[in-house]
Amino acid sequence: MKFLKVPKAQGEKIRQKLTEKAIFAAEYPILSEGSYLLFPVNGPYGDFEIVERAAEKRELPFLKLKDALADLLDENELQNLTTSFDLIGDIAILEIPESLSPKEKQIGEALLKVHKNIKTVLKKLGPMEGEYRVRRLRFIAGEEKTETTYREHNCLMRFDVSKVYFSIRLSTERKRISDLVKAQERILVLFAGVGPFALVIAKDHPDADITAVELNPDAVSSMKENIILNKFQNISVLSGDARAFKYDDFDRVIMPLPHSADKFLDLAFSAAKPGGIIHFYTLADSKNPLEDAKSKIKTNYEISSWRIVRPYSADIVQVVLDLVKPK
Ligand SMILES: C[S@@+](CC[C@H](N)C(=O)[O-])C[C@H]1O[C@@H](n2cnc3c(N)ncnc32)[C@H](O)[C@@H]1O
Repeated sequence: MKFLKVPKAQGEKIRQKLTEKAIFAAEYPILSEGSYLLFPVNGPYGDFEIVERAAEKRELPFLKLKDALADLLDENELQNLTTSFDLIGDIAILEIPESLSPKEKQIGEALLKVHKNIKTVLKKLGPMEGEYRVRRLRFIAGEEKTETTYREHNCLMRFDVSKVYFSIRLSTERKRISDLVKAQERILVLFAGVGPFALVIAKDHPDADITAVELNPDAVSSMKENIILNKFQNISVLSGDARAFKYDDFDRVIMPLPHSADKFLDLAFSAAKPGGIIHFYTLADSKNPLEDAKSKIKTNYEISSWRIVRPYSADIVQVVLDLVKPK
């Protein structure tokens, strides 16, 4: 098997790039050799050395699921079954193509059989939609419930997946932001949802003073519950439209609303103090992500860094620009 030899210090960044570019061969394990990580790959990346190592294929959840379904689905149907699912706490959220709808209950039950930690299987009925960015879901197997408790970066988060937005795919980004926070920062999290950005930062930085703003009343209730659950004292919650409040003098403003954060940039710019940082999330053309994202910013702020957070669709990626307000 081919592995890309990457210094450990660059490990997480390169692993993400490999995943984004579909070069990471996730069915094989990552190996550790001295100060290097060896990532299983199906092609080259940058100037990193490729080495050959023996490795056994891992039993990935979806591989196991496909095995469990071998008697139920034909080869073509197996190909059509999306091979990834989101596992949030003990709830699996699965994308099942329309053609397989008649067999969805058996698919859900197969998943419960191969994954003892999954209690409930829900099916995605569409994309995240509306102002609250919530997805319609349908129960298909296991315990009929939509509430779960999820752990991330040593924070507990409890919420109802059918009533609020939540994405496990932003976990690395939340940690990246938290790692940038300096002593005693005042931080504004707009579009805070059930609080994951605020919670992860509060855990790492008890001296930070965090304000989290959210419109969806269900997400606000969960965020308040999560603050108590984690015994945090340094998060204040504002319930309502981000435009309804006045802000100033923040060291950092986080804007995780990629569909329309550009409409709130004026507000974020006035909330930040001179020299403050604004983390602006947006959707951009995958062929030209930086230029496309930049075109949404009217003010000429310095971009201290940027990255592709995750693929969004075939031609679109989610991007974050870290902007600095001039002093
Ligand atoms: C994409 S979600 C991000 C949630 C959370 N930050 C996370 O990472 O899980 C965007 C959130 O912004 C909220 N929202 C949308 N418009 C808003 C507004 N005008 N003011 C405050 N919150 C808003 C939605 O209800 C939703 O919870």
